[in-house]
Amino acid sequence: MSDLLIIAEKLTKKYKENVAVNSLNLEIEKGEIFGLLGPNGAGKTTTISMLDGILRPTSGKIFIKGIDIDKILYKVKDDIGFAPQESDIYKRKLTVKEYLIFFGHCHNIWGGKLKNRVEEVANKTGLSEHKNKYVNQLSGGLKKRLILATSIIHKPEILFVDEPSLGVDPKGRRDIRMILKLLNNEGTTIIINTNYINEAEILCNRIGILKKGNLIACKSPDEVKQLNSDKQQISIETNNNNLLTDFLNIQNYISYEIQNNNVIININRNDSTGFMQKLIRFLYENNILTNNLRIDEKSLEDIFIDITQ
Ligand SMILES: Nc1ncnc2c1ncn2[C@@H]1O[C@H](COP(=O)(O)OP(=O)(O)OP(=O)(O)O)[C@@H](O)[C@H]1O
Ligand SMILES: [Mg+2]
Repeated sequence: MSDLLIIAEKLTKKYKENVAVNSLNLEIEKGEIFGLLGPNGAGKTTTISMLDGILRPTSGKIFIKGIDIDKILYKVKDDIGFAPQESDIYKRKLTVKEYLIFFGHCHNIWGGKLKNRVEEVANKTGLSEHKNKYVNQLSGGLKKRLILATSIIHKPEILFVDEPSLGVDPKGRRDIRMILKLLNNEGTTIIINTNYINEAEILCNRIGILKKGNLIACKSPDEVKQLNSDKQQISIETNNNNLLTDFLNIQNYISYEIQNNNVIININRNDSTGFMQKLIRFLYENNILTNNLRIDEKSLEDIFIDITQ
């Protein structure tokens, strides 16, 4: 049997003339943490909302565990948890505990089983000591935890999380990553939207990059880093940058810029070895001293900005 949990086929959402998501094809396997990245307005929330059945596509199909969710969503309702990007839940005058109980009832969990689940979930999400606080009085970071807690009260097999760390401080972001990692280790398949590139890099085994509604890459973080990998940057700091730039000006296959005392050279990877030999000979023959010489690989964030702008 295939381990495919989610299949999206030609998934499209149009708002009048605006194509928010354009013919997206996606397959997600059991056990994955799949991250959707993309600039603001790229279609991440629209995509995740369609995948979990909250928003109806204009066209295209979604299968969860082989079930066409447009026809029989109720069959997989309890297999899915959704932590939205925004929620007005914390406007209500309920305590954290009452809120978790309410969400448990929505999934038909009652009595002792629910009591245990509320304890477990509050523990897992770091809300134990806040259980009796009113949700409208929680800090922003705790509200995010509460949204996450409500989405896992029924132990879903698949969890959709939309920007779980937005507006959360660095320590809180790390905590949320740990909670998600723990859930994944326990067997939950996770689909996460995020604008934090390092969150995606640390958590996800695959990432999809959306640009204006189109899925332009769908690979592991390392594979995404190889995109545009024909380019390399060499960074060098010397005691005679004038002489160095005279040399660089006659190498017509490179470009460079100076930042503080650093000369940043952009070069095609294929030309890099030959250039380095020439450069080192030039520095040696002209008695130029270097404080710092580095070959920089592009970060995931660099690649993300390159391919989405
Ligand atoms: N209810 C709606 N009515 C009309 N247009 C919408 C609606 N919801 C989203 N859109 C449009 O669809 C596109 C995708 O929006 P979406 O919220 O999915 O982007 P996003 O990638 O989640 O952005 P962000 O990073 O800001 O959360 C945008 O152009 C947005 O204006
Ligand atoms: Mg969004």
